[in-house]
Amino acid sequence: MNFTLSTEAPQQIKSDCLIIPLFKDAKPKDPAAKLPAKVAKILTDSVQLGNINNDCGQINWLFDIKECTAPRLLVVGLGPLAEFTAEKAVTALQAAVSALLQKQYSSVALALDGLACKAVDEAQWIQRAALAFKEKTYQFNTFKTKTAAKKPTLKSISFCVDKAGVKSGQKTLDYALALAEGMSLVKDLGNTPANHCTPSTIAQTAQAMGKKYAKVTTTVLSVAEMKKLGMNAILAVGQGSRHEPKLVIVEYKGGKKSQAPIALVGKGITFDTGGISIKPPGAMDEMKYDMCGAATVLGAIQVAASLNLPINLVALAACAENMPGGNAIKPGDIITTLSGQTVEILNTDAEGRLVLCDALTYCARYKPEVILDFATLTGAMVVALGTHTSGFFTNDENLATALSNAAKNSLDSAWRMPLIANFKDDLKSNFADLANIAPHRWGGAIEAAVFLAQFTEGQRWAHFDIAGTAWTMGANKGATARPLPLLMEYLCQYAYGKR
Ligand code: BES
Ligand code: MN
Ligand code: ZN
Repeated sequence: MNFTLSTEAPQQIKSDCLIIPLFKDAKPKDPAAKLPAKVAKILTDSVQLGNINNDCGQINWLFDIKECTAPRLLVVGLGPLAEFTAEKAVTALQAAVSALLQKQYSSVALALDGLACKAVDEAQWIQRAALAFKEKTYQFNTFKTKTAAKKPTLKSISFCVDKAGVKSGQKTLDYALALAEGMSLVKDLGNTPANHCTPSTIAQTAQAMGKKYAKVTTTVLSVAEMKKLGMNAILAVGQGSRHEPKLVIVEYKGGKKSQAPIALVGKGITFDTGGISIKPPGAMDEMKYDMCGAATVLGAIQVAASLNLPINLVALAACAENMPGGNAIKPGDIITTLSGQTVEILNTDAEGRLVLCDALTYCARYKPEVILDFATLTGAMVVALGTHTSGFFTNDENLATALSNAAKNSLDSAWRMPLIANFKDDLKSNFADLANIAPHRWGGAIEAAVFLAQFTEGQRWAHFDIAGTAWTMGANKGATARPLPLLMEYLCQYAYGKR
């Protein structure tokens, strides 16, 4: 799919289909696409006759309009301008793209010129439209042998924009496409089943990025190296599996040498059986997604490198497979973490916090400006916030504001959760410095975050629990690549000084 910005008049563009988003209260000459009077009149007449429904997301087809070069128009309703929001723009664009993909067109034009309004400026229209096309055409067919007929046919997509906005529009388009590519990588890694996605696979993906981008360097710590360092928590989680654990470190140097990096830490459990504290069988296949935090941090490196962002990043993917093998950790086992703190493992299914704690300790040696970790950490997070909103915890008020703003601007919903110091009392162990679980289930997402907080003291740190948002369940099961949009929005704001 090739995306271009065009300053040609939409009605003159040669394409199989012209998409016209239309506000409900559009009068002739009103915003809804700066179309010539004749075309605008056809639209308003059709609305009046009841032939066009322009409620938000409604699809209407018009054929053989002689004023337009395209043989058909797809008019998508936006609802009333006064009630319009960025979310509604996404709804409408996704509906239009879905309807379009039912057909086998190869070229399409989208009339964006004139749609800019208070809720959605031209840059956001471009970004949202590009993401809608990319997201709706994402497919994961690696393991299907009979899908040739369903391949998307769309080859060229033009967005009709204002002349004045072409230069900044192109930047926005480049950003959206880089983000979409990053999201595809995260989704592919997430959707790949655990027999094809092991810690080594994640390491290889990271190494390939090191080869592709001059500013990216990948280092993979093996079991022997982690033993030497004393990373016994991540080693403990991996020891029940035939696939060795790995700490995958990817550095991106796009900023000044002297500039402190942002550290991104991801939970990379390529499959979480629960270990000896084995999980019940229901939906256990979804535990292949337990590495989505690791995929997210690799995705961020790819997007940053392809956009050449002027910042330094270090991503650490803490990868292991949590299996109940003969050498697996058992409830009651005590390990010494890299931080020196000992942990009594009372439940082997609370493994995410174990792989993360060593990675969080390790990343301090990069003297990061900020540490952000991403983990499908607790079922309790899903109970607390559901599946639309990620939870984040942070010990820094400014960081909290920046992350909330990034969530809002990227439409990648996230809500701040509290780090409550008292919760530490529930992590007491009779035999070690800390237990890896509390003796009860209440506030489980907070409990896990407070456990991690024991390994980030003195750091500006935020922890994202993405257990509810990293993938969708049911008929449309699949990785979402969230919260990569939020993370990239934060990193861009950080890079370009709007902190
Ligand atoms: N990977 C799971 C969390 C999870 C569960 C994410 C379901 C998404 C859906 C994590 O390793 C885990 O098993 N957490 C336990 C912690 C408990 C043992 C304290 C949980 O949430 O049940
Ligand atoms: Mn688990
Ligand atoms: Zn897990």
